[in-house]
Amino acid sequence: MKDKFFLILVFYAFSSLFHVEADSEFVKTRGVQLMLNGSPYYANGFNAYWLMYVASDPSQRNKVSSTFQEASNHGLNIARTWAFSDGGYKPLQYSPGSYNEDMFQGLDFVIAEARRYGIKVVLSLVNNYENFGGKKQYVEWARSQGQSINSEDDFFTNPIVKGYYKNHIKSVVTRRNSLSGVAYKDDPTIMAWELMNEIRCPSDHSGNSVQGWINEMASYLKSIDGNHLLEAGLEGFYGQLKAESNPNFQVGTDFIANNQIPTIDFATLHSYPDQWLSNSGYEDQISFLGSWLNEHIQDAQNILHKPLLFAEFGISTYNSTLRDQFFNTVFSAIYSSASGGGAAAGGLFWQLLAKWMDSFRDGYEVVLGESPSTATLIAQESQKLNRIRKMYARLRNIDKWNKSKGN
Ligand SMILES: *[C@@H]1O[C@H](CO)[C@@H](O)[C@H](O)[C@H]1NC(C)=O
Ligand SMILES: *[C@@H]1O[C@H](CO)[C@@H](O)[C@H](O)[C@H]1NC(C)=O
Repeated sequence: MKDKFFLILVFYAFSSLFHVEADSEFVKTRGVQLMLNGSPYYANGFNAYWLMYVASDPSQRNKVSSTFQEASNHGLNIARTWAFSDGGYKPLQYSPGSYNEDMFQGLDFVIAEARRYGIKVVLSLVNNYENFGGKKQYVEWARSQGQSINSEDDFFTNPIVKGYYKNHIKSVVTRRNSLSGVAYKDDPTIMAWELMNEIRCPSDHSGNSVQGWINEMASYLKSIDGNHLLEAGLEGFYGQLKAESNPNFQVGTDFIANNQIPTIDFATLHSYPDQWLSNSGYEDQISFLGSWLNEHIQDAQNILHKPLLFAEFGISTYNSTLRDQFFNTVFSAIYSSASGGGAAAGGLFWQLLAKWMDSFRDGYEVVLGESPSTATLIAQESQKLNRIRKMYARLRNIDKWNKSKGN
């Protein structure tokens, strides 16, 4: 017992010794790389959509802290989470323009706490799905104001709905954090904004509705926040020209055209072959995964000339061998691209849970303490990506030294 206690003390002494100073600069892009403080930045992290929701109850905030703590112990440096909850139970936005201060304070806590643990965040601004409101809630708000609405997809074109959404962008982006005093738009803890979780507009296969919407909303967001990166929230589905690369369906998005919009700073990719190819076996799903990853890396590199973040990937299984092989496929694709200066900028698995969060389990969850082999893979990926960043930083120092010597 005593020994254990001593070890814990030593651990804390050392972890504070090596505690990384929170970065004071914003993540930017240069070519196909994300950059932080002059060197390429690799995002190895996790999704945890529930952070604001849980933190809105101060008695539950320890779950957010212990999640960040465990994540950072495994070298994870980024979290993607929801900055929306529209209507319904415990909303952030009760109705257009009317906000719940308890929820906002929850989000304030999440951002302030992420910074303490050296973790950046990607904040998504609305949902495609009806969980936490989404497109559906927005069009219902407009309908109750007398707008004629045909379907949820009117979200992308109805002027009143677009006005509501722009107002939400502005409310979140200009929010001043009640704990740190820093406006969100000036906070480098935020790596990027995301317009919508998994944009889909299945009623318009031409892709025009989504293209027009991203264009308009990205310009609007950039007009109030010139500091942060912005991504659209795409899963990676191609438009009609490359439909054969998709699983067997289209969702009205175009990975190439959508990401070519100049105000979109980097591309994103989601990977759920267990859902998309649910009639195929595991080996076929893994083989699809490999091609899906590599095709998007090539396109980001050669056509978009922008970084590519694997913003969500996961598999619903309780077999850790299968999960590890899946994670390993993604981690290897990222590392092999990144180590050659390629477009893969990192990956965020879906989803990380703290212990004692059983009600949030969805089959995809990883609880680091329960899955030692997966936790090891995750930590190794962090170390490998960190070595690439350090190598670039060393080269940069040599280069500086060379220049100072007139070489
Ligand atoms: C997990 O999957 C592997 C590969 O299919 C299999 O060999 C193993 O028996 C499975 N483990 C469990 C606990 O089901
Ligand atoms: C620094 O200068 C040396 C000698 O001129 C050269 O060989 C090396 O490539 C330079 N390194 C960098 C990173 O510019």
